[in-house]
Amino acid sequence: MATKLAAIIVLAAFLAGPAACEGASICFNGWMRLPTFNPRLCARGPRVNRWQRGASPAGLGLSYGYYDNRRSTSYCPRAEGIVRGAVREAVAANPGIGAGLIRLFFHDCFVRGCDASVLLTTTNSKNSDTEREGPPNKNSLRGFEVIDAAKAAIEAACPSRVSCADIVAFSARDASYFLSNRRINVPMPGGRYDGRESFANETDQLPGPFSNVTELQASFAAKGLTFNEMVTLSGAHTIGRASCRFFSSRFPEMEPAFAAKLRAQCNGNDNTNVNQDDVTPDVLDKQYYRNVIDRKVLFTSDAVLNSMETMTQVIENANRAGTWERKFEKAMKNMGKIGIKTRGDQGTEIRKVCSRVNN
Ligand code: HEM
Repeated sequence: MATKLAAIIVLAAFLAGPAACEGASICFNGWMRLPTFNPRLCARGPRVNRWQRGASPAGLGLSYGYYDNRRSTSYCPRAEGIVRGAVREAVAANPGIGAGLIRLFFHDCFVRGCDASVLLTTTNSKNSDTEREGPPNKNSLRGFEVIDAAKAAIEAACPSRVSCADIVAFSARDASYFLSNRRINVPMPGGRYDGRESFANETDQLPGPFSNVTELQASFAAKGLTFNEMVTLSGAHTIGRASCRFFSSRFPEMEPAFAAKLRAQCNGNDNTNVNQDDVTPDVLDKQYYRNVIDRKVLFTSDAVLNSMETMTQVIENANRAGTWERKFEKAMKNMGKIGIKTRGDQGTEIRKVCSRVNN
């Protein structure tokens, strides 16, 4: 019986596609719907050391106004202003790009630390199967063109001084600011250096939409973030969009009118995208927590926050003005410290073009 069940699970994983589960060593468990969790099928991902995983977000080496110091070789006083201008323009044209930039920061920091590895298309080891190709990112991440535009303008102003990793972090801060109608202002230090490697299979460190509370907690803890920070950062699902394939199995568990509306929007097509927050889709606000309580959220990973361990925080975030916003600012700042590389670290550089290593 047990052997039969295991065989069914392997088959399910296989049908989900090779990208979902390669061999027995890498498994995007939270990113696919499996009948049950099988530890043998979803064994540990590739071995990465503590530095790469960034177990503790200490952030030593970062400082505020990093590019404003006249005596530093990193002096580039216009850098943060250029990023802010690019993000302002992009968000005004399409708020969804702002959502994309916030997510880009999360996906960068959780894999090899905040080192802009998420932007690479080729790397030092000539690997082209980079994070961008990983199942959580492929055909899903957006906002790359904003980073590229900001980088090009910054390179014109002060070549080889401002890292792509800092541009990603500043963009997330600025997108949060504009999308929250200037209510959220993340204090974001600079000084990160860019990495030179990126691997698609390492994106299995990102939690997936089918993750439960234990899995969510574990993935955040592996990056040195707390359980409360996990609940706080999930509030970013009050903006942006999501693909029907990640939640269409959950219609029966959702509030009926909400489920009916989504069912009509998806119309049987798993690749259709819908707004994550049906109430204020383009505003970074605490509405997400009301939606959790009302069973009007999309993913399993959102819905599980309606549980004993997380309920106190969810209710407080939903009801007390300003509470979530202040926690979000701190948690974003902490996320920006994960596994950072700074001046003098091996295998780092200030990239000239964000999608490729210098040589
Ligand atoms: C807690 C675990 C999380 C899971 C399982 C998760 C999963 C997902 C998934 C599946 C999507 C939809 C992607 C698509 O359909 O293409 C999404 C969208 C999004 N996520 Fe998360 N996410 C998590 C945490 C976060 C965090 C920490 C942030 C940022 C602080 C974030 C920000 C966003 C944003 C802004 C979008 C919309 C992106 C867009 O419209 O382009 N998420 N997330």
